[in-house]
Formats: sequence, structure tokens, C-alpha cells
Amino acid sequence: MEEKQLIKQAEKAMSNSYSPYSKFKVGAALLTKDGEVYPGANIENASYPLAMCAERNAVYHALNRGVKKEDIVALAIIGDTTGPISPCGACRQVLHELLPRDAVIYLASTNGSVKKTSTTELLPFAFDESDL
Ligand code: THU
Repeated sequence: MEEKQLIKQAEKAMSNSYSPYSKFKVGAALLTKDGEVYPGANIENASYPLAMCAERNAVYHALNRGVKKEDIVALAIIGDTTGPISPCGACRQVLHELLPRDAVIYLASTNGSVKKTSTTELLPFAFDESDL
């Protein structure tokens, strides 16, 4: 699957966003080696800190369906932002642990801008299992 198609899938996932508090819709789509796509959207709560970001929902969705880390090839994340969306720190930590080092991460905006990145670029000098 091409970059554009995966970003389109992430944009489609935005429509499932439950964000009555921030009114900021985010969508994500995770691609596996066999071409399967796992969508995710941000889901908020009246108890604000319980909100779950779109990209973490997409990754947790895939893992709950039995996808293995080594089978993940790409993840697209999109928002109504002026430039490519920037994942929060918590998501960077989770992506660093659950995505392979060579997975491609597309940070996109509905205005068409895209930045291609990776887990290590998003979280240099990460705390991980080797530190325990
Ligand atoms: N959000 C995401 O889902 N992903 C990001 O990369 C940035 C932020 C969500 C969390 C919250 O529901 C809303 O956007 C505003 O922070």
C-alpha cells in the first residue's frame, strides 16, 4: 500500500474521533506486512486525562488482533493541523516500544503536508527495556 492510501485511511479514521472536549479530531492507520490496515481515532472522556490518542488506539487495536511487532511496516497519523501533526510524548514512548525500528511513520495534516519519520527520530535517547 502506498503512502497516500495509508494517509487516506488515517483520514477516514478521524471520523470516528470522540473529541467533544478538545474538538480536535485525530486519525491513525497502521499497516502490516500482509497489507492489513488497523485504524484508530482519539477517544476523550469528561475525566480529561483518560483521553486516548489516535495512534495509540491504532497500535493497541492491531496488537489486540494478534499483530506482531515485526509485522508492522508503517503508521500514518493525521490531524487538522497547519503542518504535519506532532505526536505527544506518551505516544512517542509507546511507539518506540511497540513498533519496529524500521517502521515508517507518516505525520500528516488534512492540508496535505506530510513528514516521514521513525520511532528513534521521534524519541532519541529513549528509556526502554534495556534500561531495566
Ligand atoms: N491527540 C492525538 O490523538 N494524537 C496526537 O498526535 C496529538 C493529540 C489527541 C488527544 C486529545 O484527544 C486531542 O488530540 C487534543 O489533545
